[in-house]
Amino acid sequence: MGLILWHWLLLLFNLVSLCCSLSSDGLALLALSKRLILPDMISSNWSSYDSTPCRWKGVQCKMNSVAHLNLSYYGVSGSIGPEIGRMKYLEQINLSRNNISGLIPPELGNCTLLTLLDLSNNSLSGGIPASFMNLKKLSQLYLSGNQLNGSLPKSLSNMEGLRLLHVSRNSFTGDISFIFKTCKLEEFALSSNQISGKIPEWLGNCSSLTTLGFYNNSLSGKIPTSLGLLRNLSILVLTKNSLTGPIPPEIGNCRSLESLELDANHLEGTVPKQLANLSRLKRLFLFENHLTGEFPQDIWGIQSLENVLLYRNNLSGWLPPILAELKHLQYVKLFDNLFTGVIPPGFGMSSPLIEIDFTNNIFVGGIPPNICSGNRLEVLILGNNFLNGTIPSSVANCPSMVRVRLQNNSLIGVVPQFGHCANLNFIDLSHNFLSGHIPASLGRCVKMASLDWSKNKLAGPIPPELGQLVKLEILDLSHNSLNGSALITLCSLKHMSKLRLQENKFSGGIPDCISQLNMLIELQLGGNVLGGNLPSSVGSLEKLSIALNLSSNGLMGDIPSQLGNLVDLASLDLSFNNLSGGLDSLRNLGSLYVLNLSFNRFSGPVPENLIQFMNSTPSPFNGNSGLCVSCDNGDSSCKEDNVLKLCSPLSKRGVVGRVKIAVICLGSALVGAFLVLCIFLKYRCSKTKVDEGLTKFFRESSSKLIEVIESTENFDDKYIIGTGGHGTVYKATLRSGEVYAVKKLVSSATKILNASMIREMNTLGHIRHRNLVKLKDFLLKREYGLILYEFMEKGSLHDVLHGTEPAPVLEWSIRYNIALGTAHGLAYLHNDCQPAIIHRDIKPKNILLDKDMVPHISDFGIAKIIDQSPPAALTTGIVGTIGYMAPGINRR
Ligand SMILES: *[C@@H]1O[C@H](CO)[C@@H](O)[C@H](O)[C@H]1NC(C)=O
Ligand SMILES: *[C@@H]1O[C@H](CO)[C@@H](O)[C@H](O)[C@H]1NC(C)=O
Ligand SMILES: *[C@@H]1O[C@H](CO)[C@@H](O)[C@H](O)[C@H]1NC(C)=O
Ligand SMILES: *[C@@H]1O[C@H](CO)[C@@H](O)[C@H](O)[C@H]1NC(C)=O
Ligand SMILES: *[C@@H]1O[C@H](CO)[C@@H](O)[C@H](O)[C@H]1NC(C)=O
Ligand SMILES: *[C@@H]1O[C@H](CO)[C@@H](O)[C@H](O)[C@H]1NC(C)=O
Ligand SMILES: *[C@@H]1O[C@H](CO)[C@@H](O)[C@H](O)[C@H]1NC(C)=O
Ligand SMILES: *[C@@H]1O[C@H](CO)[C@@H](O)[C@H](O)[C@H]1NC(C)=O
Ligand SMILES: *[C@@H]1O[C@H](CO)[C@@H](O)[C@H](O)[C@H]1NC(C)=O
Repeated sequence: MGLILWHWLLLLFNLVSLCCSLSSDGLALLALSKRLILPDMISSNWSSYDSTPCRWKGVQCKMNSVAHLNLSYYGVSGSIGPEIGRMKYLEQINLSRNNISGLIPPELGNCTLLTLLDLSNNSLSGGIPASFMNLKKLSQLYLSGNQLNGSLPKSLSNMEGLRLLHVSRNSFTGDISFIFKTCKLEEFALSSNQISGKIPEWLGNCSSLTTLGFYNNSLSGKIPTSLGLLRNLSILVLTKNSLTGPIPPEIGNCRSLESLELDANHLEGTVPKQLANLSRLKRLFLFENHLTGEFPQDIWGIQSLENVLLYRNNLSGWLPPILAELKHLQYVKLFDNLFTGVIPPGFGMSSPLIEIDFTNNIFVGGIPPNICSGNRLEVLILGNNFLNGTIPSSVANCPSMVRVRLQNNSLIGVVPQFGHCANLNFIDLSHNFLSGHIPASLGRCVKMASLDWSKNKLAGPIPPELGQLVKLEILDLSHNSLNGSALITLCSLKHMSKLRLQENKFSGGIPDCISQLNMLIELQLGGNVLGGNLPSSVGSLEKLSIALNLSSNGLMGDIPSQLGNLVDLASLDLSFNNLSGGLDSLRNLGSLYVLNLSFNRFSGPVPENLIQFMNSTPSPFNGNSGLCVSCDNGDSSCKEDNVLKLCSPLSKRGVVGRVKIAVICLGSALVGAFLVLCIFLKYRCSKTKVDEGLTKFFRESSSKLIEVIESTENFDDKYIIGTGGHGTVYKATLRSGEVYAVKKLVSSATKILNASMIREMNTLGHIRHRNLVKLKDFLLKREYGLILYEFMEKGSLHDVLHGTEPAPVLEWSIRYNIALGTAHGLAYLHNDCQPAIIHRDIKPKNILLDKDMVPHISDFGIAKIIDQSPPAALTTGIVGTIGYMAPGINRR
């Protein structure tokens, strides 16, 4: 009893000492720290025994009152309480880069002496309080990187001294037409919000403006001509809005401009020649608009230019010779335009070029011989033009070069000898008129991964040096006149995944050593004169999944039973050979999608798994008179057609079938034709119906689709970053620099192509939570669907725990946060989504980590969509990954 009393007294004493010795600002800070969760390092330092808080960490005083509060990047969480308004003499508050959540308290408006307020990069929500109108002295306001919403309040225009206003990366809506009475703004950044309406004319009166950052909003209307009044403007970013109309010529008066970024809008008209007056311009981004007409040549005379991105417009014009004199030019991307004329022959001579992409224009003449003079060129893409002449030797001797694409031009002559090509990993020279031999020096380009020289006039044998390209994954030399027994040379290319040599003159049989190419997923050798037997070693290429094409090669003998190991194979073409024997070896090929066995000498019954191909036209069994359909296993669907007869001895049903056919033959041929026509029409109608529902979708997504396909080189294995339950995931870096994780759905096209799935995708696309991977887009091709997710730098939790070498250190706090974040994400899916989404396959591979190690759940909701038919099946089957299923699951 006495002890308790004593405790009470002590507590009372503490309270008294606390209240009477610490200044009111100090008390306010301690009160603030109730809701604001400070790290130990700070909370242990903020001692209630001090008389003022002036020596506390993060605090600075003027005249014993708190003037600066700087807790930036201390790992502070919790929320900001109303007590902050009790510190009347605060001039600067910096709480940036923490994890503070909750609302911005209106009481902050009581700190009327504030000049600087930085709350950026936290998790604050709600709006900007109206009380901010009292902050008449505020000159710097940073609220970027939060979850603030609502419209920007009119009260902002009462802050007459506001110079720097940064509110990017929030969820602000509404427009910004409110008037700044005396506009002293220097920087105005509101990128990545949902601001709509027009860009206000009054901005032209803010003559001190140096930065306008309006990237990624919903601004519409025209770009106001008044922006031309801004003589100090150095950065103007209006990218990714819905702006229309022309680029105002007045922009040419903004003589300080260094960055003019108007890309990804709906701008029309011509590029004004006045832009050539922007003598400090470094970055000119006009890509993805509807700009037309001639691009003013004088703009190419701006000496400071570094980065010119004009792609995806309808711009025409010539490149003037002065382009060759630019001393700073690094990136020029003009693809998908109508530029004509020759590329100035001196291009690259004075410039430190890094990336050149002129694909899909009308350029003629030769490739500039000195394009790599700066020794920094990494990407040279000039495909789909009308370039002629030979490939300059500098292209094959550019030490920095990584990627070369010159496909679809009219290039002639021989491929130059390769010298300095240590970084080169991709050369596409397809569809030209290149002749001569494949240079043996190609063997020096040791990083080479993809070689597409198909559709040229190359001749001669494949040099043995090609066997040195051990990193080669794709080799496409099809449609040339190459000859010899090349395959033995290529057997050392252990990483090869796609080998295409069809339509050449290779001879000498398929060597047994081909089994060494055990990474092959595609093998195209059709249309050669290989001869010999089909060796059983082909059957050990167990990864073959895309295609095996050995057609038209004079192959003889039986199909070896080992071919039955290729259970993942989707396309098999053995047509036009002299192969014989039965098809029994193929009875395990359950993934076949395309089959051609026509014009061989196969005989015996067609295995059950291949019966489905009877309906294909032309029949894959054509020209094998010995093949037949067997009805032995009592399959009611067994029937013959005009290619395949029933196997003898005839079953009862077979006789009936024959009689039926005879009746039909004897009966009206017209009726038969009519029936066929009906079936044909019905098929067509239902098909068009599906297509119609999707054409809009196809059109909208097609340009991005093409870009995804291009950037992954048509889903080349080297871009694979993972495999999930429903498909393979690739990393796609689009030309705009956006990076996506692209999931290619393996589900069959018919399953994907249904409108209700698209609706579901749209729903999923709108789900936003910090711990869920954002679904960015959904693209459809006839054969597959693609889901685009935001890319996660650190990979999956599985990678971090088990995969990467050396394993990164995972502190317990990070592990805890991963667990907590994952739980938050799941709780959101279960409780806040309507209808609730059950993931059904939570495991480390489905928990992805961003660069800050924040967990994001992936693959949610997809299971439901893919397995849509029939809905009842959803709840019955056991789903998930063994080892990660919920305990006590009811195994029915
Ligand atoms: C708080 O930290 C300051 C230095 O930043 C130090 O001078 C002061 O003594 C500390 N106070 C306490 C109570 O630890
Ligand atoms: C605020 O504190 C951080 C340390 O967290 C320090 O780096 C920064 O310089 C401080 N800023 C001011 C204005 O004192
Ligand atoms: C706030 O402090 C951080 C240091 O963590 C600094 O980078 C930032 O510039 C400061 N904000 C302002 C407006 O000075
Ligand atoms: C915020 O919290 C996350 C975990 O949720 C952590 O990884 C991060 O380091 C924290 N940020 C700061 C600035 O303390
Ligand atoms: C906030 O985060 C952005 C993007 O991560 C970064 O560029 C910026 O410097 C950060 N600002 C502060 C004050 O930490
Ligand atoms: C502080 O601000 C709140 C809300 O803005 C207001 O109601 C209150 O009267 C203010 N207090 C003082 C002391 O000015
Ligand atoms: C802002 O977000 C909060 C939740 O953070 C929500 O309650 C409120 O309705 C939103 N306000 C507006 C104007 O969208
Ligand atoms: C810009 O300022 C001028 C005079 O200072 C004024 O007449 C004009 O109305 C202002 N324009 C806008 C759009 O506010
Ligand atoms: C290449 O094309 C240009 C312009 O079309 C033509 O003048 C030139 O003669 C051609 N050169 C060669 C080698 O065919």
